[in-house]
Amino acid sequence: MKSCKISWSLVVILSVIVAVFSYKFTVGEVKPSEDGRLAVELTKDERNALLLEMRTWLQSTQAVLNAVSDRNFEEVSRVARISGMSAEADTPASLFRKLPAAMKALGFDTRKKFDEIADDAIKLRDPEHTIKQLSNTMNNCIACHSAYRFTEAFHSPFPAKNGFVASAHIRVKTGLQTNLSNRIE
Ligand code: HEC
Repeated sequence: MKSCKISWSLVVILSVIVAVFSYKFTVGEVKPSEDGRLAVELTKDERNALLLEMRTWLQSTQAVLNAVSDRNFEEVSRVARISGMSAEADTPASLFRKLPAAMKALGFDTRKKFDEIADDAIKLRDPEHTIKQLSNTMNNCIACHSAYRFTEAFHSPFPAKNGFVASAHIRVKTGLQTNLSNRIE
């Protein structure tokens, strides 16, 4: 009887742990941001990795347009593929836990759309089709940018909030203004 009780407690504890983890996984590390979007809190490296990914998407977008205007469908396919699903392996695994599920879905869908551009360019060789696909893909860029932003999670090196602010002021006063004091303004 006693061991039965213990195993029920274990079930309850494990369920709570699973529930908390799945909630975290769905919601991600987000906070409301003063510009009305949701801020996804990342480390500096994670944010840099995602922004690099973003700049690659922008480059693919321009390169697809350039290649399609030359009717060079091999090149359309090549440059679209750079932002396709196969590049997902470059994304650090720790990030997936922090991104909200809806954001991840939009990100994967964007990669899938770049892959479709790459496939169809070779199959159909139809410039209007490629341009239409790219325009649809860019609706994902717009949707995600209007909903989310990335912020660097900032951990104060000082225990009390006031202590940190005071120390930042001292830095300003002594002319040693650093990024730290810029950040809290
Ligand atoms: C799943 C969400 C998502 C999608 C889809 C998305 N972005 Fe972004 N992108 C972001 C976020 C979040 C930022 C950071 C914005 C901020 O913090 O203000 C960003 C930033 C950027 C930046 C700035 C990079 C830098 O170095 O500062 C560029 C360029 C960019 N995105 C291009 C694109 C393009 C082009 C597409 C579509 C092909 C796209 N993004 C689709 C989420 C997304």
